Amino acid sequence: MPIGTTITEFIIEEQRHIGNVSGDFTALINDVVIACKAIASAVRYGSLVGVLGAADTENIQGETQKKLDVISNNLFIKRNEWAGHVAAMASEEMTDVYHLPAQYPRGKYLLVFDPLDGSSNTDVNGAVGTIFSIMRRPEGTIGEPTEDDFLQSGDHQVCAGYALYGPSSMMVLTTGHGVNGFTLDQRIGEFILTNPDMKIPADAQDFSINASYMRFWDPPVRRYIDECLAGKEGPRGRDFNMRWAGAMIADVHRVLCQGGVFLYPTDRKLRAKHQEGKLRLLYEANPMSFIVEQAGGLATTGEQRIMALPPANLHQRCPVIMGSRNEVERIISYHLDAQ
Ligand code: AHG
Ligand code: MN
Ligand code: MN
Repeated sequence: MPIGTTITEFIIEEQRHIGNVSGDFTALINDVVIACKAIASAVRYGSLVGVLGAADTENIQGETQKKLDVISNNLFIKRNEWAGHVAAMASEEMTDVYHLPAQYPRGKYLLVFDPLDGSSNTDVNGAVGTIFSIMRRPEGTIGEPTEDDFLQSGDHQVCAGYALYGPSSMMVLTTGHGVNGFTLDQRIGEFILTNPDMKIPADAQDFSINASYMRFWDPPVRRYIDECLAGKEGPRGRDFNMRWAGAMIADVHRVLCQGGVFLYPTDRKLRAKHQEGKLRLLYEANPMSFIVEQAGGLATTGEQRIMALPPANLHQRCPVIMGSRNEVERIISYHLDAQ
């Protein structure tokens, strides 16, 4: 039986095509892939190996960590710190920049990640995943990377991807040349190209938002969702459908496959806590925006393109509205109307 194109083979060929590459990037992706396979395995065995439930610790965001948040973070760090391709890392689950142990060589890439997105789903056997983003260390910087080195806008990403641990494990990746999806073939332990050149349909009928916050929404978001809810009888003249997985990665993956809009907007309740949004710019919003834009969609806060935002700190949050181009354009126009 033919194996198909493995993710490593795909990246090597893509890099060859670009030319003038050292192989460092391919080797880095290879380690990211191995880390995600290890996390997929931990997630899959769940209760059988005692990895579900809370870890009795809090992260910098003040969120109670799940055991799998901690396990996934450690797996990701250990797999990516040794080979000499990475200069430093930053994670949603760690307060500060992670500096590599002294014995390992420093590379030219900065790796940032959300080790387990949607981790509240672990205890109900729901979909979770890992999100990552790769930037170059700024030219001319020497010594150990600092937080400032990581504060690059999303437009500086050289690669972004996610691994979704659902009924099958998938990895979806962009290096700025379109988006490709790979499915883990458990029989041979390799991600195989199954979804080449993924494109988000420009129009959509699905929207994805936590409607329990409706009373806190700003008028433009309220207007968009109200019009969707009004369906055929409303100004849109057609019916819409609502989905919410509780894991951005699963909701955005559905948008990528079938079209739709994912919204985690700013609202009155978040602003009262001095937060502009819930999702984190570096670990969640930027990588998913890079993928969505590369698949032909749009990603905005409502007022600004997410990937143009200059990050102020590692754990900055931002409003997120992303998906099918025509729907996101409509939501942007509602924000303009409200100004
Ligand atoms: P994480 O598990 O990494 O903290 O992320 C969870 C995020 C995101 O994936 C999801 O869309 C959102 O939080 C859900 O938030 P609500 O519980 O407010 O709906
Ligand atoms: Mn997350
Ligand atoms: Mn997380």
